Amino acid sequence: MSADHRTLDRRRIADMTARELEAFNAKTPRSAALYARARETLACGIGSSYQWRDPWPIYLKEGKGSHLWDIDGNEYLDYLNGFGSMVQGHAHPAIVKAVQEQVLHGQQFSEPVEDGVIVAEELKRRWQLPKWRFTNTGSESTMDAIRIARAVTGRDTVMKVFGSYHGHHDYVMVSVPGNYGDFGPRDEYGSFPYGKGIPDAVVRMTVAVPFNDLDAMERRLQKMVAEDRVPACMIMEPAMMNIGIVLPEPGYLEGVRELTTRYGVLLIFDEVKTGLTVAPGGGTEYWGVKPDLVALAKCLGGGVPCGAIGGREEVFAEVENFNVWQVGTFNGNPLAMAAAKATLFEVLTPAGYEHLAAVRQRLADGCEKVIADHDLPAYTVTLGAKGCVTFSTERVVDYQSYCDYQDAEMMELAWLYMANRGIYAAPGRDQEFTISVQHSSEDADKYAAAFAELAEELTA
Ligand SMILES: Cc1ncc(COP(=O)(O)O)c(C=O)c1O
Repeated sequence: MSADHRTLDRRRIADMTARELEAFNAKTPRSAALYARARETLACGIGSSYQWRDPWPIYLKEGKGSHLWDIDGNEYLDYLNGFGSMVQGHAHPAIVKAVQEQVLHGQQFSEPVEDGVIVAEELKRRWQLPKWRFTNTGSESTMDAIRIARAVTGRDTVMKVFGSYHGHHDYVMVSVPGNYGDFGPRDEYGSFPYGKGIPDAVVRMTVAVPFNDLDAMERRLQKMVAEDRVPACMIMEPAMMNIGIVLPEPGYLEGVRELTTRYGVLLIFDEVKTGLTVAPGGGTEYWGVKPDLVALAKCLGGGVPCGAIGGREEVFAEVENFNVWQVGTFNGNPLAMAAAKATLFEVLTPAGYEHLAAVRQRLADGCEKVIADHDLPAYTVTLGAKGCVTFSTERVVDYQSYCDYQDAEMMELAWLYMANRGIYAAPGRDQEFTISVQHSSEDADKYAAAFAELAEELTA
């Protein structure tokens, strides 16, 4: 492993991190107090374990356009954007209008509505996949897609990419990022549960292969054929979006498509993050490789929980003949459908995508310039409305290289440093920034300016 990224002064990083943490703590006393109250009732004081932050979470109060306010009144430019689910920006007038109008006419029927048909028609046009159903979250979308794949193939085993996250149901809470020590040989990675409570039998049923490595995947498939446990499906994001951003190498997705077809394994693209943010028809359109099933959620509903799955006619036949029960009280509910319709027809329009790409590029160019000016051991990756700065001199191509090379301490410092300068970046070492249609060029410049200040101090 290259020692290059260690050339940054580790002592200075530690000192700056301690100073920035102290400053941030001093700015967030109300969050601290609410945390003390919340933990009496809410486990860890939060609604989801991913909201955990040491020493306390930041409780937010308001979002408007590209801006956020916490309960201490601190104002931030939001680049977390709800883990990428708010590409519309906060309180977008078209979403507000659609939801307000629908609320006056009923929020929930558990019966289909016309907006649901319109949304499905538009998703069909964008993804060029003929059949659709709705869910409420990304986890439901990947769970239902896997169940359909199992029904179609009559098989149980699931193949996934090592280190990818696909939601919180048992089938996929395996070999996501975690402290597993040695994963095993590349074409025989182990299956590791993500926390307790996941049945052993399910863990063993989920097998992970490295991203961007067709040879390892093929060797694993051959082994599974020999063991008489060919997978029902390969579920994957077309680009890994939970270790910064890792793009597919040229030919990789085409190779996965070819391998899965050859072995009779259904290909599921988990486009919960890439869908709608990368291109109008997501990664499927962007890379021109068509899966058998696609899973969507996050920004589809513009802040109203909403997901969808789409797929080929033959695959959805299992739903249409009621062999698979794809169900849910809130699936396709009128509020979500109204918000999704406004998203697709009024927000994520060709002009919307142009704006996202322009602002994202300005931000990425700004960061690239800072990296070059200060000779930082880092690089940027961009994709549609998203991007990230990866602190590493080596290219991260899969989860193993992420573990080997990414500079976790710098990621921690960068978050605190940016937060103290009014930039709410994606927390932790694994996320990317998301631009919304309400972010401006000036917003992008402010991000780059805060990053420049960090680089300046780091290398002075
Ligand atoms: C790629 C991917 N798939 C699925 C999910 C699960 O989505 P949800 O949290 O809405 O259940 C996530 C969540 O971050 C995700 O990033």
